[in-house]
Amino acid sequence: MRRFFVVGHRASTDPRFSLDDLAGGAGRMDILLNAANAALLLAHDLRRDVEVGLLLLGPPTPPRFVRLVGFRLKSYQPDIRSNAALIRRALVDVSRVEAESSPGVYGSIATFAEALDRLGPTFVLLKEGGKDIRVASLPADATFVLSDNQELLAEEERLLTDRGALVVGLGPVALHTDHAIALVQNELDRRGA
Ligand SMILES: C[S@@+](CC[C@H](N)C(=O)[O-])C[C@H]1O[C@@H](n2cnc3c(N)ncnc32)[C@H](O)[C@@H]1O
Repeated sequence: MRRFFVVGHRASTDPRFSLDDLAGGAGRMDILLNAANAALLLAHDLRRDVEVGLLLLGPPTPPRFVRLVGFRLKSYQPDIRSNAALIRRALVDVSRVEAESSPGVYGSIATFAEALDRLGPTFVLLKEGGKDIRVASLPADATFVLSDNQELLAEEERLLTDRGALVVGLGPVALHTDHAIALVQNELDRRGA
C-alpha cells in the first residue's frame, strides 16, 4: 500500500464550503484535491493500492481528517470540483469515529498525531534538502508526508521525527505538492515497489 498524507493548514472544515472558490474561501482546498489526484489517478484507471490522508486545519471546526482509499473509491473523478463535493460530504458527520460518507471516503475528527497513527507504519517526510530520493532506500509501506503551500509547523515536524521519519528530497527546486507526489509515484513505479 502506498500512502500520502497532505496537511492543509487553512483548508476549510465547513461542509458548505463553496465549490466555486476552492483556492480562496475554501483555504487552498485545490492543493489537497490536486494532490489526491496525483496520488490516485492513472491515465485510464485509479491506483487501487493507494490511500490518501488529508488533514484539514482551517475554520470553523478543525482538525478534520479525510481518508480516500483507492480500492474502495467508486465516484472519484479527475475533476477536482466533483471530488470537493466528496470532501464536503465527509465533513458533515462530526465524530472522532471514522464514518464512510461515500464509497472509499472516510471522515473523522483527528489531530496531526492521530492522523499519523491511523496511517503509518513508517514515514517519509518530503522536504527540500532531504536525502535525494534517487539514492534513498525507502521503507516498505511508508506514508509520504507533504504540506500545502505553507511549511510544516515545527511541532508537526517534531511529531514525525519522534516516529523516525526519513527526510527525503526530490531535487533542487521547490515543487507544487501534486508535482512532488507525481515524482514519488514515478520513482516507486520504477522501483516496482
Ligand atoms: C509548495 S511546497 C511547500 C512550501 C514551499 N517550501 C514554499 O516555499 O512555497 C509543498 C510540499 O511539496 C513538497 N516538496 C516541494 N518541493 C520539494 C522538494 N524539492 N523536495 C521534497 N519535497 C518537496 C514538500 O513536502 C512541501 O511541503
